[in-house]
Amino acid sequence: MQAPPARYNKVSIALHWIVAVLVLVLIGLGVYMVDIPRGTPERSFFYNLHKSIGLTTAIIVLIRFWWRKKNPPPPLPASMPKWQVVTSNIIHALLYTCLIMMPIAGFTASQFTKWGVTYFGLFKIPPMASPNAALYDVFQGVHENTAYVLMFILTVHILAAFYHLLFVKDGVFQRMLPGR
Ligand code: HEM
Ligand code: HEM
Repeated sequence: MQAPPARYNKVSIALHWIVAVLVLVLIGLGVYMVDIPRGTPERSFFYNLHKSIGLTTAIIVLIRFWWRKKNPPPPLPASMPKWQVVTSNIIHALLYTCLIMMPIAGFTASQFTKWGVTYFGLFKIPPMASPNAALYDVFQGVHENTAYVLMFILTVHILAAFYHLLFVKDGVFQRMLPGR
């Protein structure tokens, strides 16, 4: 029996799962809220909730980058084929790219509306620009298309994780689970 591969540390694991839950909630909220009739309090509530969680996620992602720089990922098991190592690095890089692009595009788009962001009902971040439908459409387009890319890559990521857990059984899934 090969020794199980080294795990991510506790903080990296916590950050992974906090961001994972937030991103899945954001995708659910995003897809749900765009169909709420315009001009209703319900739409305003869900948009502000989405934006508030989105900005919070951006801050946690920045903390995650800082933490990752100080705590690089542990080496993958030597048994893993080269193509899988390369693909996994590409997928992770794309996930991080989406995690940065989504809030930047969403926040920038919201600068070109009259709404801005009401952060969890606590305070308002007023828009820094005047309303501009054309610029809103550009950044909203980036936000929406990046969301589709993110959903696709995430599907591959989650399927790959379960492929390791259920078929390869090389401990790669467990690297990201809390425990001894
Ligand atoms: C059911 C959902 C998920 C499962 C089972 C899962 C599982 C995993 C596992 C096992 C790893 C470690 C891979 C390795 O050992 O190299 C990992 C890494 C990673 N996951 Fe997930 N994940 C999930 C959801 C997400 C979500 C929603 C995101 C964010 C968009 C995400 C982003 C990442 C990133 C960026 C890494 C690379 C970590 C690093 O090396 O810095 N995951 N995931
Ligand atoms: C990781 C962070 C985020 C994720 C995963 C995410 C995801 C999504 C998704 C899946 C949608 C629905 C697709 C569409 O655009 O029609 C959406 C819509 C939207 N998001 Fe985000 N979002 C994030 C951050 C943000 C932030 C920080 C803001 C603004 C401060 C924001 C503002 C919006 C707006 C205004 C819409 C609706 C656009 C419309 O009415 O068509 N998002 N988001």
